[in-house]
Amino acid sequence: MKTIEFAQEKTKLSSIVLGLMRIKNLSPLQVEELIETALSVGINTFDLADIYGGGRSEEILGQVLKNRPDLRNQMWIQSKCGIRIEDFTYFDFSKEHILNSVEGILQRLHIDQLNSLLLHRPDVLMEPEEVAEAFDHLEKTGKVRHFGVSNQNPMMIELLKTAVSQPLAINHLQLSAAFAPEFDAGFHVNMEQALSSSVTSSIFEYARTHDMVIQAWSVLQHGYFQGVFVGDPKFEKLNQVLNRLANHYQTTPSAIAIAWVLRYPAKMQAIIGTTQPQRILEATQATNLTLSRKEWYEIYLAAGKTLP
Ligand SMILES: NC(=O)c1ccc[n+]([C@@H]2O[C@H](COP(=O)([O-])OP(=O)(O)OC[C@H]3O[C@@H](n4cnc5c(N)ncnc54)[C@H](OP(=O)(O)O)[C@@H]3O)[C@@H](O)[C@H]2O)c1
Repeated sequence: MKTIEFAQEKTKLSSIVLGLMRIKNLSPLQVEELIETALSVGINTFDLADIYGGGRSEEILGQVLKNRPDLRNQMWIQSKCGIRIEDFTYFDFSKEHILNSVEGILQRLHIDQLNSLLLHRPDVLMEPEEVAEAFDHLEKTGKVRHFGVSNQNPMMIELLKTAVSQPLAINHLQLSAAFAPEFDAGFHVNMEQALSSSVTSSIFEYARTHDMVIQAWSVLQHGYFQGVFVGDPKFEKLNQVLNRLANHYQTTPSAIAIAWVLRYPAKMQAIIGTTQPQRILEATQATNLTLSRKEWYEIYLAAGKTLP
């Protein structure tokens, strides 16, 4: 398993992260098997959010950890807060909501510290000073070790930094061979084409220049949770290229698709969301290969993108 160095404490984090968003219908025994499989191949990072399964994902992992306390120290456990799902969904980075959310997360997980906490979706009404007070309290009380963001652009991060003193070390960003709007816009800067008017926030470059870890989510999905593109006839050309490269590298098309994400030269982690141990093993093969520049661009173009 390839790793990246998490700057703040020189910890090695696995290039593949197991996301637990979809586990709400699994039994604790099934989740234990998933965790054991992940750990056996060197995956040490696990991603959750307070809203996954309405809290059920954290509850199930909590039951696993209660039965198997030996697993805790082998795991980097991350969760997220800031999305409120009530009669409608909205975003809340108030101090009170952040602190209440973390209490709930720790109780459901039966642990006393999160390795990292991310702010899940930008709350335009946020007050950086309130977030800073919440983070200071969580750090001082030992409830959260590291902090980061999710789906935030560079200026949002800069705004937070005006008050927050802890490093914002991680950003969760959607990225897959079939979903890369930031790259699309970046390739067409200042061109007379529709794509050039797409907004690029340069968030990928920002992460590189600020030593932030990028955790790419939905690495096999197209659109916003519209399904897996691997094997989908709508992505015929992309699948042809993935299949040919899988054959060449003696691996699976999914592993090639994940290798495409990991080829971006930042501190990259690819979050996989499978509920099947066998697919964890497949995904891990992505870290045994590095796509050439030409292969990376071929996949990008086969997904229907264009270059100037
Ligand atoms: N920060 C954010 O806003 C945000 C948003 C979304 C997700 N996330 C994080 O990212 C993680 C991963 O997201 P995701 O679950 O969308 O990622 P994903 O790995 O792209 O998709 C997983 C889904 O694809 C299916 N799948 C995987 N390989 C397949 C294949 N070869 N053929 C057919 N189906 C296949 C899985 O089914 P099986 O279970 O049957 O394998 C599962 O339903 C989440 O768990 C969460 O931690 C973060």
